[in-house]
Amino acid sequence: MSKTKIDIFDTTLRDGEQCPGASMTIDEKLLIAEGLDEAGVDIIEAGFPASSPTDLNAVRQIALNVKNSRVCGLSRCTISDIDRAYDALKGRDNARLHLFISTSPLHMEHKLGKTPEQVIEAINECVSYAKNRFPEVQWSCEDGTRSDPEFLYRCFDTAIKAGADIVNIADTVGYILPHEMSALVKDILTNVDNIDQKVFSVHCHNDLGNAVANSMASIGVGARQVECTINGIGERAGNASLEELVMTMKVRKDLDLECNFDGTKLSALSKMVSSITGFVVPPNKAIVGSNVFAHESGIHQHGVLQHRGTYEIMAPEDVGAEESKIVIGKHSGKHAIFYFLHSRGYKDITVNQLDDIFMRFKMGVEIDKNLGEAALLKITNEVLAGEDVMEIKKKSVSQS
Ligand code: KIV
Ligand code: ZN
Repeated sequence: MSKTKIDIFDTTLRDGEQCPGASMTIDEKLLIAEGLDEAGVDIIEAGFPASSPTDLNAVRQIALNVKNSRVCGLSRCTISDIDRAYDALKGRDNARLHLFISTSPLHMEHKLGKTPEQVIEAINECVSYAKNRFPEVQWSCEDGTRSDPEFLYRCFDTAIKAGADIVNIADTVGYILPHEMSALVKDILTNVDNIDQKVFSVHCHNDLGNAVANSMASIGVGARQVECTINGIGERAGNASLEELVMTMKVRKDLDLECNFDGTKLSALSKMVSSITGFVVPPNKAIVGSNVFAHESGIHQHGVLQHRGTYEIMAPEDVGAEESKIVIGKHSGKHAIFYFLHSRGYKDITVNQLDDIFMRFKMGVEIDKNLGEAALLKITNEVLAGEDVMEIKKKSVSQS
């Protein structure tokens, strides 16, 4: 069976950079854009040219320097925004304009001050205008998931008739749930004429922690582009995380999905974005956290040492991370301790000595939970030197 290709649209440099504390210099943006390009990302949303002269310049520099990926600029549905984006992107063969306008009652009334009919007019006017200037035009409904579905169908229909090549729904405030998202995307795909001739895309935020699940649910019913960011950075709780989407497609081969992105570049890209923005990646962050390939509990260590697949669904090298770590600590088992000592050159330890080392180490960590490799080596040397375990026991009892 042939695989379904999913386009990866990265918006680290636009939505990611928009969040408080993540602003980047042009040189930093260029570095990230080059990294994304080398990794094979399909589209780089480089910025929002009308938002500032610096952003316009950053988009221009990225458009001039990136080799293969399509380069995209964001624009509100206004002629002057489109002209700014054109200034930034003109001359690039595979440039894309990303036009957006709000479609929910709340946003139309309180943010735009427009009636639904005025929104429809703006979509028609701006998509047609953009289509004469850009090789590719993407139209997005902001706050799409809180919009009236019947109105959404009309908006998509208008954008498609005016020439949009890609149409995108944004879950701007991360409100929708996966089963609702798949039902909504399915309804849109069934109720809008010729939408099957276009690329259907989703842009999911993570306010309730469902951004990746909502993106995957949309792919399941026909979305062919997902918008995402490295480390999931973005407005408020962030966007769908690129690394989680890419590795879901690669690990779950049974989904028959494929993307161009080279997974082995993920770890380095994550570190680059983290050091540029100063946003620390939590140790348990899926795919790129420092604990993702570390095992401390005895049962897991034993399993991984027998067969990695027991507790690892991907290998560290698949995401460009360092090899799996067996962490020596409070929860380590005898198996892992033997393996660790063997790897440090202690190859002739007898069963009795190992029992002794294990017992002394376990007693030690009861007193100091932070004991690790250094303490284990010290205990091992004591045991091999024939020091009496009873003395150690007595010492620890008198201390407690
Ligand atoms: O979250 C959002 O609605 C956006 C749009 C510009 C697509 O970022
Ligand atoms: Zn967004």
